[in-house]
Amino acid sequence: MDSIRVKGGNQLNGRIPISGAKNAALPLMIASLLTDDTLTLENVPHLADVEQLIRILGNHGVDYSVNGRREKQQEGYSRTINFSARQIVDTTAPYELVSKMRASFWVIGPLLARMGEAKVSLPGGCAIGTRPVDLFLDGLQALGAELDVESGYVVAKTKNGRLVGNRYVFPKVSVGATHVLMMAAALARGETVLENAAREPEIVNLAECLNAMGARITGAGTSTITIEGVDSLSGARHRVIPDRIETGTYAMAVAMTGGDVLLEGARVDLLQRAMDILAESGAEISQEEAGIRVRRNGNGVRAVDVTTEPFPGFPTDLQAQFMGLMTMASGQSKITETIFENRFMHVQELARLGARISLAGQTAIVEGVSRLKGAPVMATDLRASVSLVIAGLAAEGETTVSRIYHLDRGFERLEDKLSNCGAVVERLSG
Ligand code: EPZ
Repeated sequence: MDSIRVKGGNQLNGRIPISGAKNAALPLMIASLLTDDTLTLENVPHLADVEQLIRILGNHGVDYSVNGRREKQQEGYSRTINFSARQIVDTTAPYELVSKMRASFWVIGPLLARMGEAKVSLPGGCAIGTRPVDLFLDGLQALGAELDVESGYVVAKTKNGRLVGNRYVFPKVSVGATHVLMMAAALARGETVLENAAREPEIVNLAECLNAMGARITGAGTSTITIEGVDSLSGARHRVIPDRIETGTYAMAVAMTGGDVLLEGARVDLLQRAMDILAESGAEISQEEAGIRVRRNGNGVRAVDVTTEPFPGFPTDLQAQFMGLMTMASGQSKITETIFENRFMHVQELARLGARISLAGQTAIVEGVSRLKGAPVMATDLRASVSLVIAGLAAEGETTVSRIYHLDRGFERLEDKLSNCGAVVERLSG
């Protein structure tokens, strides 16, 4: 199993190109199931999760080509990929595939809308919490789906071959359930109104793509989304937005080590709250034409309290990285996680580097220390693992992060991007 070795102590200076967003690319790829035409997606990041979803979609009959070539591109950053679901050959998403990546459960929406049936494995739990699917099931039922759960599978059918528009109020904000209901309602008969919908930029990116395919969606980015169903959707060409979590992660790395980095292609509007918090902690952030510039001149990091919230609040996917930063702040900060119930597994690993963190329910209390010291640590999930890398960049000596397959799920060429800015980071195989 590969690991990453970081020698801490260097500032970061230079440019980091921000990749296409994983969490936008995945639902966009799934949207290709809605049409027999070709959906061309630009700026798709080269990540393990994307490769895994390509395999899952292939099982349903989705063919793909990368920049005109069938094989995957080994080198280079984000790519253009054509997805073509001319014929859906299988409406079942098996446990072996869905259990590897939760987002693959989302195929249930387009399969049901286009084929009138779907049999999709329940995803099961995951490292950051139980993550149920009740909202997906309630919402699809509201659109007229008949659902059964049999032997770990959701078996879904439409009554007369088509879903029917309806009003659905989410009892809790869910990104995935909003994606799925928006895709399902795009091909339903009549109008659907989704209330208390997620407002994340990835929802807006999907709605824009669906509209380019012929859907009639308004209100994405607000908590009320209206979808006028259409009979069929066509192909389109659409660009994946820059990854706001990758942006925030590198911004926090610079805030932690000091230095001056241009995050190329990044947009402040995709993570305003996180940028405001970072500025409060002492970083200088400015939107420039080419991207976001982050600077810290070596002065200390100030402690700031943070609570994770749905967009436009502070994202849960940056909580671990921010905790990394706060371990070296002057004073105490409180970090409260409200989205997932078990997303503090990085606490014990950060403690191995000398961080002082105690947990009180859903709040981590971080007492800043003046220095961290390198140690072997273990990645437990995607965002937790990158928090260990950025803490390692600021720690004295050597930090080895093992189990970095988590990192490869969501960070494109992390070690190259950091090394190009002066960090000493290398991947060790085996
Ligand atoms: C998306 O997950 C992201 N994944 C997550 O990023 C992100 O942390 C999360 O949104 C919150 O922003 C992708 O986009 C692929 P939710 P999702 O449904 O859609 C509960 C990463 O590191 N809930 O918005 O699965 C749920 O348990 C990942 O890139 C129900 O109770 O998240 C959670 O507490 C991790 N019932 C809350 O809602 C349901 O039916 C929000 O989850 C669905 C969700």
